[in-house]
This record gives sequence, structure tokens and C-alpha cells, in this order.
Amino acid sequence: MRFNTLFILILIFTAGTRTSAQTWVVPDEQKAVVAPFKFTPDMQKQGEQIYLKNCQACHGLMGKDNWARLTPPPGDLSREKAQIQRDGEIFYRITTGKTPMPEFRNILSEEDRWWVVAYLRTFNPKYVQPNPVAKAAFTGRIVTLAMQYNDQMKKIVVTASEQLKDGQKGPAAGVEVVLFVKRYFGKMQVGDIRTTNAAGLALFEFPADLPGNKDGNVALTAMVNDPKGIMKTTPADAAFGIGVPTEKPGLTETRAWWSHRGQAPVWILLTYTLSVVIVWGFILYIVYSILQIRKLSKG
Ligand code: HEC
Repeated sequence: MRFNTLFILILIFTAGTRTSAQTWVVPDEQKAVVAPFKFTPDMQKQGEQIYLKNCQACHGLMGKDNWARLTPPPGDLSREKAQIQRDGEIFYRITTGKTPMPEFRNILSEEDRWWVVAYLRTFNPKYVQPNPVAKAAFTGRIVTLAMQYNDQMKKIVVTASEQLKDGQKGPAAGVEVVLFVKRYFGKMQVGDIRTTNAAGLALFEFPADLPGNKDGNVALTAMVNDPKGIMKTTPADAAFGIGVPTEKPGLTETRAWWSHRGQAPVWILLTYTLSVVIVWGFILYIVYSILQIRKLSKG
């Protein structure tokens, strides 16, 4: 018995230290980032709305120290611990998050995130905004894909073009292209990754036995393989009649448990109904018993 308690205590203790030991380091070059515009009262007001919607649930109302009891504690962002940080540091933390705080990279636009910073700073009378620095223009490659089916070669031809420095468009060589077939649940890669040649072309064989819809149409997506995220890319979508015509029932046409209720399998309906009946029966039985007890105690 005593051993068990000790064991649980040790578990709690180590779990606690593990989460608090993970430090949240902001890279130096990120700390130095400053907002691309001067904060205005209007932005601060917008930032307040964004804060109330996205942050208040955990961080509480500013200046009230009523944050949610989480581990690690979110803290009140009007206090010194948060306010001594540079704008770039706060911006980075909002962008990347750290469990349990979500990353807001894809939830709030860059502008929105700066507006929140502008709002947070209204609680710091000592704050002076550093001079805004406009974000440097994107200098990486801007690549657009297009896709055709070449009947003679029996190949799918993906053309990559890129924006050149003089504003013109030219072929994008050396770009890695991945081809996918669209399926109900996501995408399936076809063949290997191909690299575009000097003319910006990448050719894909299409497997002869791949099923299409009932007309043999296959929906395809060609994307640039850019794991480091250093390019701006536009994928290409197209459908060609190159698959094997297949009579396939739609996802909601047959009995299946991802279908709608009218098509749910009988065993799911039975199991569900039975569990509802049992639970309600139990509740009614309890109510009935309580009423019996009251009757007995009166009598
Ligand atoms: C699900 C809860 C949750 C939400 C929502 C949330 N946070 Fe957090 N936040 C936390 C937690 C927990 C921490 C502490 C993380 C740590 O110290 O490891 C934290 C830390 C921070 C920090 C660092 C504070 C410091 O003292 O160093 C900042 C800045 C921050 N959050 C800003 C925001 C902003 C702005 C939003 C809304 C856009 C937001 N958070 C939304 C939970 C949340």
C-alpha cells in the first residue's frame, strides 16, 4: 500500500519535472525580428479581439492573473516575465506554440499575430516600439506547375515554370515533382519523384492497371517536393481518362459506417439503440428506487 503511493508520487514528480525541464528557446535571429509596421490604436483594438478569441481561455484576462491552471502555467502576459521579452520573442512564441499552447502559424495571419503583440504591449507603460522593418521580399524560387497527358508517349507531362528576376517566366529546371492520384481518403503517390530537366519538364509513366471512375477518369495532383519550404509553389490539378473504368458505389451509397445514418450497418444501429435503452433504463430504475425510498420513509 505504502509502496504504491510512493510509486504514484514518483510518477507525478518525474512527469512534472519532465514538462518543466523542457525550455522554450527562441533562436537569436528570431528574437531580433521586429514588426513590419508601426502599432496603431486601431491595431491594438483588433489585437484585443484576437486575444479574447484565441488566448484568453488559457492566459485569462490581461492583468487579472486568472490564467487556466495548466502545466506549465500560461501566466498573465501583462506581467514582467512576458513583457521583458523582445517583440520578436513574443511573436515567435505565438507562431510556434509549445504544448499545451497551440501553434498559431496557420490559425492567425502574420498581421494578426503582430496585432496581438501590439495589444499585449498596451499593458506595459515602459514599452517603446522599435523602428519597424519591412519584411524583405521573397527571394526564393516561385514555381508554378502545369500538367498534360501526352497520348503519343502515353506519359503525363508536368511543366514547371518559374518567375525570373526580370519579371518574366521561364522553365524551372531541377525542381523535384511528385505525382499523386486523388483517392477518397487522401492522396496516393504514383511512381517516384522526378526532377525537371532544363526545359522544366518531368515525365511520369502511368500504371496501366490503375482504377479510375466509371468513365476511366483519374484525378491527379502534381506538387513540388520542397521539404525545406524554401520555394513558393503552385501545384497542378487535372483529370485524364487514363484509368481502368471501374463501377464503384459512392461512399454514401452502400451500408458502411462512414456512410450517413440511413445507411448505417444494422449491428451499429442495434448496438447503439441497445446502449441507449440500457442507460435510460438504469436512470429510470434509480429514479424509481428513490421514489420508493421516499414513500417508505414517509410511511
Ligand atoms: C491551450 C492554452 C493556450 C492558449 C490557447 C494560448 N496559450 Fe500561450 N501559453 C500557454 C502555456 C501553457 C504557456 C507556458 C508554456 C511554457 O512556459 O512552457 C504559454 C506561454 C505563452 C507565452 C510565453 C509567456 C512567457 O512568460 O514566456 C506567450 C507570449 C504566449 N503564451 C502568448 C499567447 C498568445 C498571444 C495566445 C493567443 C494568440 C496564446 N498564448 C494562446 C497556453 C496557451
